[in-house]
Amino acid sequence: MKKSVVTALILATAPLTVALSAYAADVAANWGEHCAKCHGEDGKGQTKMGKKLGIRDLTDAAVQAKFTDEQALKAMKEGVKDEKGKQTMKPIEGLSDAEIKALCAHVRSLKK
Ligand code: HEC
Repeated sequence: MKKSVVTALILATAPLTVALSAYAADVAANWGEHCAKCHGEDGKGQTKMGKKLGIRDLTDAAVQAKFTDEQALKAMKEGVKDEKGKQTMKPIEGLSDAEIKALCAHVRSLKK
């Protein structure tokens, strides 16, 4: 390959790498900001709020198997109510669809 072609390729892919790492940082930041106070940084739900609300351990494969991606997305968009109809997880506000989808993928990645 010609040197100029290689240079062009490097220049063309550099923004992609930057975009991908920015994306990863955003998901982690969004999780930390919007989810961790209940679900915990590690997703185990061992927070003060998590214990109070009886949040399940999202790192547990059995727990992950109990909801679909659609349900996870719905939980984020519409919130979750307990059996008495009390809202225990509020709908997430101020995040785009893409960010919510990324959080869904993040939730899945917590599984051990
Ligand atoms: C105010 C506390 C609270 C916050 C903040 C919160 N959750 Fe939840 N979440 C809950 C409770 C309570 C449940 C229901 C009990 C359970 O499934 O463990 C739940 C359930 C879920 C479920 C399972 C849904 C299902 O259908 O079983 C997912 C996925 C989830 N949360 C993701 C998130 C994500 C992602 C965020 C951040 C954007 C978030 N939660 C923020 C309290 C919270």
